Amino acid sequence: LGHKKKRHACENRGRPSYSEEQRAALKRYEGELRERMEFSKPKRLAHSLSVADCAERLALAYDVDPFEARVAGILHDWDKVYPMRVEVARAREQGIDLGVDLELVAPLLHGMTAATGLRRRFPELSETVLTAVSRHTMAARNMTPLDMVVFVADGIEPLRPNTDGIAAVRKLVDEGAALEDVFWSSFSGGLEYVIRTGRYLYPGTVDIYNDMALARQASK
Ligand SMILES: [Fe+2]
Ligand SMILES: [Fe+2]
Repeated sequence: LGHKKKRHACENRGRPSYSEEQRAALKRYEGELRERMEFSKPKRLAHSLSVADCAERLALAYDVDPFEARVAGILHDWDKVYPMRVEVARAREQGIDLGVDLELVAPLLHGMTAATGLRRRFPELSETVLTAVSRHTMAARNMTPLDMVVFVADGIEPLRPNTDGIAAVRKLVDEGAALEDVFWSSFSGGLEYVIRTGRYLYPGTVDIYNDMALARQASK
């Protein structure tokens, strides 16, 4: 008694009331994801479901459609089941051109390839959901609120460790910061991580960063 559990950034405070049709759809996506990952990628499955919860919660806080956020969260890592080599080959087959050898950007491809595969598998998915899935790895100029919610949820869902960068994003959410600022912190924190760990930095990411940095300066 007297021990108050600290709420964290993604904690769900009550579920939205979904229609019967929406509940059935969520059950189906989750069921198919389980089938796809349960045995081969149990951690990825847990992460995906955690992103779904987190995205739904952020959507409620930031006035974004919680159903779309939850669906995108469930499905965002749909293509993470493939080994990198296979994933690069799939991206080549789909004609994805990022202006650099796709081997260099292999970890970024699964968002884009997933959107293509999911469109075929679940034709009822909205383009807004598919775009959020597609953009969750690389971000983009002009991210929509849904895109940002899914991107941020992917970065801060509670199964992720509380590193300095992630803690900073969680703190902003807890403080009720604007979604654009939360996203900026998440995006630039990811960039810092790439640089700090000596990884290859995709030039397209630098372009997006510069565009957003200038837009943010102009709006001040
Ligand atoms: Fe991902
Ligand atoms: Fe993810």
